[in-house]
Amino acid sequence: MANGNSLIVTQALVKRYGDKVAVNNVSLEVQAGEVFGFLGPNGAGKTTTIKMIVGLLQPTSGTVRVAGFDVQTQPMQAKASSGYVPDTPNLYAKLTGRELLRFVGDLYDLDRQHMAQRTEELLRVLDLGEAADNTIDSYSHGMQQKASLAAALMHDPKVLVLDEPTVGLDPKSARLIKDILRQMADRGSAVFLSTHILEIAERMCDRIGIINKGELVAVGTMNELRSLGKAGEVSLEDIFLGLTGGAEEAEIAEILK
Ligand SMILES: Nc1ncnc2c1ncn2[C@@H]1O[C@H](COP(=O)(O)OP(=O)(O)OP(=O)(O)O)[C@@H](O)[C@H]1O
Ligand SMILES: [Mg+2]
Repeated sequence: MANGNSLIVTQALVKRYGDKVAVNNVSLEVQAGEVFGFLGPNGAGKTTTIKMIVGLLQPTSGTVRVAGFDVQTQPMQAKASSGYVPDTPNLYAKLTGRELLRFVGDLYDLDRQHMAQRTEELLRVLDLGEAADNTIDSYSHGMQQKASLAAALMHDPKVLVLDEPTVGLDPKSARLIKDILRQMADRGSAVFLSTHILEIAERMCDRIGIINKGELVAVGTMNELRSLGKAGEVSLEDIFLGLTGGAEEAEIAEILK
């Protein structure tokens, strides 16, 4: 490992589906204390990379280490150190919110008293207290997103990986999630999130990686990315579109004529 504080390390990660290379040679590191934003157009390989980091998808080649553990050869330790919030919440519909958190606490073998305390704390902070005894299939999309985050936070993971965590959330819930992620990082966790929302990447991420067609085309702080862009590309939108190729005005005019 290059650095003792690297909580996520991917090395030459590749995922192929037949002839299609979904992720090509992605090497990146996320340190303790960092919120890392993973940006890229639709189909760029964000979800595929994330699933390999959390051990849901086997890489074609390359390695992933989470909190120092190899995800393929030490999956139990790697999973015990990480929390994952998928792009679409996939929760046990017939459990209540409170039951879900206790169930997850049992999976991580938390002691009873700690589990009860943590459950109530997360329900309160995520504003799910009133719905805690209703089944999850009665929750709105945003409530399910928050329940999914609560479940990922039950064991206070060192590494938190989130696939588009704020999609479909109202401004208050989106802010709440952003604040929680910042605090997790400030307390020494590594947070890895994918997003399409450039403003989120710009405002809350310490470093940003841009992936395009499976390849990591840039990594750095906002200032470092600015220095990579052409003169005049000052916004992340300009830099992002410069690296990933936005539609030209003439092309847009073509479809509107
Ligand atoms: N199971 C699969 N079989 C074949 N191809 C796949 C499979 N899963 C993903 N792909 C392909 O891999 C590429 C990357 O997909 P991925 O879901 O990682 O993109 P993404 O960056 O998360 O996109 P989005 O922003 O739309 O969520 C896409 O071209 C997709 O079609
Ligand atoms: Mg995706």
